[in-house]
Amino acid sequence: MNISTALRGSTALVTGATSGIGRAVAHSLARQGAEVVVHGRDQGRGEALVKEIAHDGGTARFVAADLTDAEDTLRLASRAGDVDILVSNAGLYEFAPTAATDAASFDRHIAVNTRAPFLLVGALAPGMAARGRGSIVLLGSSAARTPAPVGAAYGASKAGVEILTRYWATEFGPSGVRVNSVSPGPVHTEGTSAMLGERAALLDRTNARGRAGDPSEIADIVSFLAGPASSYVNGSILYADGGELSALPG
Ligand SMILES: NC(=O)c1ccc[n+]([C@@H]2O[C@H](COP(=O)([O-])OP(=O)(O)OC[C@H]3O[C@@H](n4cnc5c(N)ncnc54)[C@H](OP(=O)(O)O)[C@@H]3O)[C@@H](O)[C@H]2O)c1
Repeated sequence: MNISTALRGSTALVTGATSGIGRAVAHSLARQGAEVVVHGRDQGRGEALVKEIAHDGGTARFVAADLTDAEDTLRLASRAGDVDILVSNAGLYEFAPTAATDAASFDRHIAVNTRAPFLLVGALAPGMAARGRGSIVLLGSSAARTPAPVGAAYGASKAGVEILTRYWATEFGPSGVRVNSVSPGPVHTEGTSAMLGERAALLDRTNARGRAGDPSEIADIVSFLAGPASSYVNGSILYADGGELSALPG
């Protein structure tokens, strides 16, 4: 496979790259010449991805960390070293009614979806700012703005990501660090398959395109926001959700 030079000389940390959207992002950034730090918890899937990227002519290494643990999250930042691109993608969604969401589940959503990006940005953005360049892309979700009868904890954790995007764009923009987020609607991934099983096809009925997204479609947007083609984009939340549909088709 041809590796382009668009991101040559850059190092990118992609959290949650062992599955779904994150894996597609890691492939996409590696294809553009970035050295990719692949993060996840699963050593086997992490190392398999590193091998796939190398097989395609790219460069990657795997760092494991459990983002429910603040110290492990900070250890990830220090093991990643100086990065030019941070893609905060790792996330979990345990869709349940509010009364069935216990404190531990609520805390997991906040820890992985909101606190982990907060700690990673706090650890990595100052280095980017000191070097005068960097790009941070956060994965939000349409759940942050479109309520459903289940998943309030998830929606709240992603609403935090959207406002953090705008804060950090303001805080780090003057130092040459851009911060943006992608807010996907439903996308077919291992995570959504595990959650919905045979009902995963329901995701195809939630938007005007009449289908859920593919991880590669989100990866293309992340790559655009991560790279120089979006040099004037800062503090944006890019919706990639197939367009709104006000009611499910009969
Ligand atoms: N798929 C969708 O419909 C959709 C829609 C909107 C937004 N999003 C957002 O997009 C992102 C990716 O979603 P996805 O569907 O691709 O997810 P996925 O297939 O379930 O993959 C989740 C990734 O996050 C990592 N992860 C989860 N919990 C972790 C923890 N405690 N510590 C470290 N890593 C952890 C997983 O690592 P291991 O597997 O190695 O444990 C995996 O790499 C998430 O932020 C999600 O909220 C997804």
